Amino acid sequence: MSTSNTEVTATYQEVYQQSIQNPEDFWRNEAEKIAWYEFPKQILSQNTHGYAQWYEGGMLNTSYLALDYHIENGRAEQLALIYDSPASGVKMQYTFRELRDEVARLAGVLKSMGVEKGDRVVIYMPMMPQAAMAMLACARLGAIHSVVFGGFAPHELAVRIDDAQPKVLLSASCGIEFDKVIPYKPLLDKAVAQAEHKPTAILFFERETYPQSIEGEDLYKDWASAVAQAQPVDPVPVESTHPLYIIYTSGTTGKPKGIVRDNGGHAVAMRFSMDKIYGAKPGEVFWAASDVGWVVGHSYIVYSPLISGCTTVLFEGKPIRTPDAGTFWRMIEEHKVSVMFTAPTAIRAIRKEDAEGELIKKYDISSLRTLFVAGERCDPATLEWSLEKLKIPVIDHWWQTESGWAMLANPAGIELKEIKIGSSALPVPGYQVEVLDPMGNVLGPNEEGAIAIKLPLPPGTLCTLWQNNERFVDAYLKRYEGYYLAGDGGYRDEDNYFYIMGRIDDVINVSGHRLSTGEMEEIVAGHKAVAECAVIGIADSLKGQVPVGLIVLKNESKDMSEEALEKDLVHLIREKIGAVACFKRISIVERLPKTRSGKILRKVMRHIADGEDFQTPSTIDDPAILDEIQDRLKVRKIGEANL
Ligand code: COA
Ligand code: AMP
Repeated sequence: MSTSNTEVTATYQEVYQQSIQNPEDFWRNEAEKIAWYEFPKQILSQNTHGYAQWYEGGMLNTSYLALDYHIENGRAEQLALIYDSPASGVKMQYTFRELRDEVARLAGVLKSMGVEKGDRVVIYMPMMPQAAMAMLACARLGAIHSVVFGGFAPHELAVRIDDAQPKVLLSASCGIEFDKVIPYKPLLDKAVAQAEHKPTAILFFERETYPQSIEGEDLYKDWASAVAQAQPVDPVPVESTHPLYIIYTSGTTGKPKGIVRDNGGHAVAMRFSMDKIYGAKPGEVFWAASDVGWVVGHSYIVYSPLISGCTTVLFEGKPIRTPDAGTFWRMIEEHKVSVMFTAPTAIRAIRKEDAEGELIKKYDISSLRTLFVAGERCDPATLEWSLEKLKIPVIDHWWQTESGWAMLANPAGIELKEIKIGSSALPVPGYQVEVLDPMGNVLGPNEEGAIAIKLPLPPGTLCTLWQNNERFVDAYLKRYEGYYLAGDGGYRDEDNYFYIMGRIDDVINVSGHRLSTGEMEEIVAGHKAVAECAVIGIADSLKGQVPVGLIVLKNESKDMSEEALEKDLVHLIREKIGAVACFKRISIVERLPKTRSGKILRKVMRHIADGEDFQTPSTIDDPAILDEIQDRLKVRKIGEANL
């Protein structure tokens, strides 16, 4: 296996220009920094539907790059993974050698269960080392994992099982939320019963926190005893373009989008981004306080730090109340974290409990060089507080499940540029970010429009949607020819700093979790008393956004009380999507504002709820409805927790 490590010292402008002007040379150079069984024959080519494909002809294995490669190159005894769970009271550490051995044996278990290259494996697990091991074990075999966030309800799990059609499922006996233990087996049983596709087995990890017997259960297989008997498996070389994973994310309908990521482009992007964006070097400790169920967890808890030879931290807890708002600072001191990544919501939660930052002073956080935030818009007050209290660069950067890594950032690993509050900073090398008007014209500084990326997207970004190429093209490529449509709106300033202002579709971000209001509307509309509804995301001082339902009752249900309907609908959304949706409030209204052609004016309602100025759209059917809505929201005190 060959790698090259020629370091180029260049400014951000130089690196960025090279990546745009000569992408093939640029990404060939980056590809040379990882180990291949066979180096790609073509750096950039097009797949059958004319979309960029990276590193065709290359052969590699992502689990090898994350583990074995480091053992062969002097890092066998370096810590690969630190597990710290204030939720369960457990702490563990694994060196690269120990982690590789665990993963190789787990891959052996999967192999004995019939899992082969190309088979799908669904992972529904809490934040525990076995979740990362499961992902790496799949990668070792060339199996395609699909991790489903543990906060999703059985219905959501069932939808993903039916789409991915996994051979097996991997899970554990419980998740832990603050002091609440959530048993997983009833959720798994329900999901498997609901799904049309039936997996052949569920490999089940029994946690000490919540022992759960699976004796006599044909579908379930005990994780610990299976691993104890397993034969380790070596990495299976796969094509660069072979899928590494599918991760489902919310679109505008009830059916989530299965984002497909390849092996080759992903590995190169993961190494590149750790170095050039985060500036974390091999041997340093990198901590992403997220969950493996989200893309941040895939990229920056598991793959990027490990491929880069960093030590990663897997944290099972919350920024507050586990046990207090000093948890993050304790973690940084104890594990000597150099670079950290979290969501603005987490900082807001900490700030709410410790406004003066007294708990920060209790710990030695001098190891922390940079804090990165993403997942939702970072409001200026949160960024300013973090800068003031931590006295280090705090970097807002913008990305999505689809991109898999940052598209806009302050590239600390190349050159730390000025921090402008409210901006996600500059285009990352590889991404030609533009702001477009509705006709597709490129807008100039300070003009707001749709954010789009000129094709080709760089390595590591989405390849397609799982078994749904048509939806992939429709959702991302059709709107503006030659561009990827990001789904966000925003503008750039004179210095090419970008400001992402929010989604232009029916997607909202609740505590940095991406959810579809369209899906919630489908569920709410299914209630027998509901004639018509709109679910909108309104501003919330802790969670960024929360959903609120505006409901028109059927004539025969006009005497149903708001409280009773709210209770029903809250229960329905918790049951179908999960508590994580934070759907807690509704308001019954007489009518919904619509255009003359019948389109519901959701944006205007959002502005009303957020107490913002708005212009009455000229296309509105009856402007008087807006006053009615405003009054209803006031009565219910909805929108009073604005940022
Ligand atoms: N499994 C089961 N349930 C879960 C869950 C999981 N993995 N994650 C969240 N939930 C549940 C919670 O228990 C809560 O249920 P409840 O309504 O019965 O109390 C609900 O979903 C909402 O959870 P959350 O949005 O996390 O709110 P919270 O009030 O429990 O905590 C914060 C607030 C700010 C502390 C928390 O949201 C947080 O840590 N945010 C940062 C999240 C983050 O890092 N996001 C980045 C992803 S890239
Ligand atoms: P997800 O796919 O869950 O990562 O969510 C992606 C969406 O989150 C983006 O399309 C944005 O709407 C939002 N988002 C992520 N990071 C940022 C950021 N730094 N600033 C503003 N919005 C962000």
